[in-house]
Amino acid sequence: MAANRRLCDPEVLVQAVRRFAGKRVLILGDLIVDRFVWGSVSRICPEAPVPVVEIKTESTRLGGAANVAANIRSLGGIPVPLGVIGDDPEGRRLREMFRSIGSKVGGLVVDNERPTSIKTRIIAHHQQVCRTDREDRSPLSGAVQMQVIGKFKKAIKTADAVVISDYAKGFISRSLLKQVLPKSKAAGKVVCIDPKMIDFAVYSPATVVTPNVSEIEQATGIPISGTRNLARAVKKILRLPGIEHLLVTRGEQGMALFGNGSRPTYIPTVAREVFDVTGAGDTVISTLALGLVSGLSALESAVLSNIAAGIVVGKLGTASVSTDELTEGIRNT
Ligand SMILES: Nc1ncnc2c1ncn2[C@@H]1O[C@H](COP(=O)(O)OP(=O)(O)O)[C@@H](O)[C@H]1O
Ligand SMILES: [Mg+2]
Repeated sequence: MAANRRLCDPEVLVQAVRRFAGKRVLILGDLIVDRFVWGSVSRICPEAPVPVVEIKTESTRLGGAANVAANIRSLGGIPVPLGVIGDDPEGRRLREMFRSIGSKVGGLVVDNERPTSIKTRIIAHHQQVCRTDREDRSPLSGAVQMQVIGKFKKAIKTADAVVISDYAKGFISRSLLKQVLPKSKAAGKVVCIDPKMIDFAVYSPATVVTPNVSEIEQATGIPISGTRNLARAVKKILRLPGIEHLLVTRGEQGMALFGNGSRPTYIPTVAREVFDVTGAGDTVISTLALGLVSGLSALESAVLSNIAAGIVVGKLGTASVSTDELTEGIRNT
């Protein structure tokens, strides 16, 4: 806690959060529908040795890059998601959910060739029984990618920041990034990338890339334990030109910010209770991008995103943080 206070002035963070309102963030990534099916089990299936789940309720949530949009919105920004959906009920549901939170929907491209990505978790008695995924992870067709780039070129003009949220479902590719990243840089935009590919050269140029520890291990082939080897692995990545900062998310250990040349800053987690860590990475990248376009330095933005992540992991059911919660979190840490 005190460590976060030592890293930057809380009042500066509070003022920046006030400036989040109305900031436009272009989000490129894999849009996913997160579906939850809740039920109970009282018998085993006569046809196979599996439980029969009697469904009580169902709910859907914005997942993957769509959860980044939800986070941007709940922090007061205006999300402009750019991604593909299928010509199916789930695609229409996504569009509807975006509308209902006040997100833009003009960047959605309907791809007739692929289904909308949907992850269904079946939960009985507070326990996940199984998960089913429906998705097509093949790369976008040339025609669809051209449509996406057309929309990007329009949207970048009015955007404050660009977030790339790669969930390895086929939307983010080397060829897409080759178009999008140089254009974003030329337009002077902040670019934050949540990576999945092991070749980090594709993520350049960027303002901040936010891998977790295992993504860095895979990218560099260097095993990391605690802070051992971390700086060495990061150095290998930062040798690539064009990536200004690496913000390594370290789960229960918080995060570490590395910049070209400067020494790393370790930021300990501020989480008091941990209930649900899914989506914490989405909260990190959303807060980070909004911080960077609201006058904060990379370090201040990282500290703020760490506070936001510390709040979100303590929540069940929602995967985003409001400006009020964040302001309170700043004052309490
Ligand atoms: N178990 C945990 N305890 C406390 N904080 C956590 C925990 N898991 C995640 N966090 C917070 O959320 C941030 C992102 O989580 P992490 O798991 O590192 O990212 P990702 O979801 O991308 O793998 C961390 O930097 C930390 O601030
Ligand atoms: Mg991540």
